[in-house]
Amino acid sequence: MKQFDVIVIGGGPGGYIAAIRAAQLGMNVACVDEWKDKQGGPALGGTCTNVGCIPSKALLQSSEHFDQAAHHFAEHGIGVAGLSLDVGQMVARKDVVVKQNNDGILYLFKKNKVSFFHGRGSFVKAADGGYEIKVSGSAEETLVGTQIVIATGSTARALPGTPFDEQMVLSNDGALRIGAVPKKLALIGSGVIGLEMGSVWRRLGAEVTILEALPEFLGAVDQQIAKEAHKAFVKQGLKIELGVTVGAIKFGKKGVSVAWTNAKGEAQLLEADKLIVSIGRVPNTIGLKADAVGLKLDERGAIVVDDECRTSLPKVWAIGDVVRGPMLAHKAEEEGVAVAERIAGQHGHVNFNTIPWVIYTNPEIAWVGQTEAQLKASGRAYKAGTFPFLANGRARALGDTTGMVKMLADAATDEILGVHIVGPMASELIAECVMAMEFRASSEDIARICHAHPSLSEATKEAALAVEKRTLNF
Ligand code: FAD
Ligand code: NAI
Repeated sequence: MKQFDVIVIGGGPGGYIAAIRAAQLGMNVACVDEWKDKQGGPALGGTCTNVGCIPSKALLQSSEHFDQAAHHFAEHGIGVAGLSLDVGQMVARKDVVVKQNNDGILYLFKKNKVSFFHGRGSFVKAADGGYEIKVSGSAEETLVGTQIVIATGSTARALPGTPFDEQMVLSNDGALRIGAVPKKLALIGSGVIGLEMGSVWRRLGAEVTILEALPEFLGAVDQQIAKEAHKAFVKQGLKIELGVTVGAIKFGKKGVSVAWTNAKGEAQLLEADKLIVSIGRVPNTIGLKADAVGLKLDERGAIVVDDECRTSLPKVWAIGDVVRGPMLAHKAEEEGVAVAERIAGQHGHVNFNTIPWVIYTNPEIAWVGQTEAQLKASGRAYKAGTFPFLANGRARALGDTTGMVKMLADAATDEILGVHIVGPMASELIAECVMAMEFRASSEDIARICHAHPSLSEATKEAALAVEKRTLNF
């Protein structure tokens, strides 16, 4: 039996980062991950690398290039004769990007001397002041770890009675490897995956309809920002139906039909070649044998943890999608680092108030901190400043002036409480705002910082100036 200071179960962004950080801190670390590539070999990186963040961003980039060439190059005086689309090549490129990331993590494990075991890790029993973990798969081993970190992630939630077949009813997995552009594509759920995947296939020419149960579009997003994004998506041809009740789903030779009722209670039928179901994800503890050691799960199947990722068992930690909190790769990573540092006796920390969110559509949507609705609900007095990209020189030069930066600051102290962006490169612009909030900066601090000209980041500075109603360029 091989003995380790730390065994990490799961090699996604939570697990692999926890393993590396623990190894950096001088511990003898093993990571067990069961994900297989097409040849049955290891494919480290979990959902994020294999069927999540990385492949979706690769396809979003490719489809954006196609859309630009088809619809926007002409404005720049560039003619594209005979524009064509090779979806096979697009998907193959995405697979190469995924493989580069898989191999990168294997390299990092070697560099940091993390022992990797390819297979499923499950609890056997408590043993020798730690836990016995069985690995089954291409490696069959029994390991003993003094400390265990569980990072087994999440899987797509299926509609009751309609399992994923990845041919006609697709999860995020199948949605990322459709071989040809479907004429009609239906999606259920207009959350993050629905909008990102809907955008990819809409840009490539599919007729896309998204059915969403909630009456409000992107309810968790600041509603001024959500409304602006909704306008842009509708202009791009995404059909988004809100306040929908989904009924029977039937399959025929030609495709799939979804019976649904609209917000007025009228019965409707949506016919499509394929259906993507993106209605959230569920924590994954299948195969872990949590029962063998009495590990406590909640009613959603998530592993119960405290604020510091301690489970119900001593020396067993859990991080990432398998525990409470937002299902985001960077949240999983932060928890991985913090747990490794806590195991080493240090003071690892994760600030849940400054975790940024990004939706990688066009326009991108990004935010950190509280929305205006949340501030109103909590009774906190605040000031708001907005600045449109229409008035930003760099955005005009880019030909991409949709959207705005909105900053919310405390009415008395001016501390930044939230920043909400819809527009070009919102994913990059949000980093400055996260840092400002982490340092508890005021809107005046941002307003006093010199921002390069011309740059999109000037819109952030101007939104900060707008908090005191003193924009210079609007
Ligand atoms: P996972 O990445 O799910 O990794 C868990 C790993 O554990 C997997 O490899 C799994 O095979 C393995 N495993 C499970 N059980 C066992 C076991 N018993 N033994 C051994 N191995 C096991 N987040 C972002 O922040 N940005 C994005 O742009 C983004 N885009 C996304 C796009 C899509 C389409 C999807 C589906 C998700 C996206 N996410 C994004 C969310 C992100 O992928 C997850 O939050 C992140 O992967 C969670 O990391 P994790 O380490 O907790 O789990
Ligand atoms: P989601 O929670 O973002 O959205 C699900 C949507 O489906 C919600 O709007 C919900 O109201 C709706 N819904 C639920 N049941 C429904 C039903 N029966 N009929 C119609 N609508 C229904 O979940 P999604 O899009 O599946 O993504 C899962 C998670 O993965 C995200 O919450 C996020 O944490 C992560 N992710 C992050 C990305 C990013 O950071 N850019 C990209 C993609 C995913």
